Amino acid sequence: MRAGLGNGAFFYTSSRENFSMHISIITLFPGMFDGMVTSMLKKAVDEHILELELIDLRLYGLGKRRSVDDQPYGGGGGMILRPEPLAAAIAAARERIVSGSDDRQAPVILMTPQGTPYTQTIANRYAKLDSLILVCGHYEGVDERVRELLVSEEISIGDYVLTGGEIPAMVVLDSVVRLLPGVLGAEEGAAHDSFQNGMLEYPQYTRPLMFQGQTVPSVLLSGNHGEIAKWRTEQSEQRTRQRRPDLLVRK
Ligand code: ADE
Repeated sequence: MRAGLGNGAFFYTSSRENFSMHISIITLFPGMFDGMVTSMLKKAVDEHILELELIDLRLYGLGKRRSVDDQPYGGGGGMILRPEPLAAAIAAARERIVSGSDDRQAPVILMTPQGTPYTQTIANRYAKLDSLILVCGHYEGVDERVRELLVSEEISIGDYVLTGGEIPAMVVLDSVVRLLPGVLGAEEGAAHDSFQNGMLEYPQYTRPLMFQGQTVPSVLLSGNHGEIAKWRTEQSEQRTRQRRPDLLVRK
């Protein structure tokens, strides 16, 4: 299932054909993703739904030291990712995306705090694509020409700064793959998720009926599916109004 390519890239794949989506992740820390291919993602790989490729940017580094970064022109602190290793890694990702005629057009998504705020709407759009290339930024940033010449979209997962783009790439990976047909069963389907209809999800209850003096809303025990659906919609609206009024404005 985890197959090395002998060049620093490795695949999580169960076949090199007939999967619904290919995702390549370009990163200086490919090993960070190993622990993630369990449960839902593992199922997606095992069931030929997802092919995941991790590309080690270091292998496209320059010189004997395989250098990937340098000091900023104009001075100032920090190191900037050079464009050439990223360009070579993106070209390698495109080379190996084999299925489907449009795949060579795979969008290149750069993870950066300067990007467009990531939302469920964007996850839904990505889940319809044949392939995606995610680039994890590092250090103080990437050379501006990478953005201009190589990147199709820039994504931020929130207004805070992380050490690298790996955790943001994991967020995109998880949120996209769970939307691919066949990954979640009908019961656990994504249709009722918070944000999927632009609102937060209604409150959920399971056993026991009584917990620390608190019971379950009686409508949920009524067996009246119409009343239950109505209650859930009302709760969804109320919760969204209280907690995330910005979502209602955006609709
Ligand atoms: N890299 C560092 N911080 C990030 C963020 N908030 N979103 C996306 N990529 C990042």
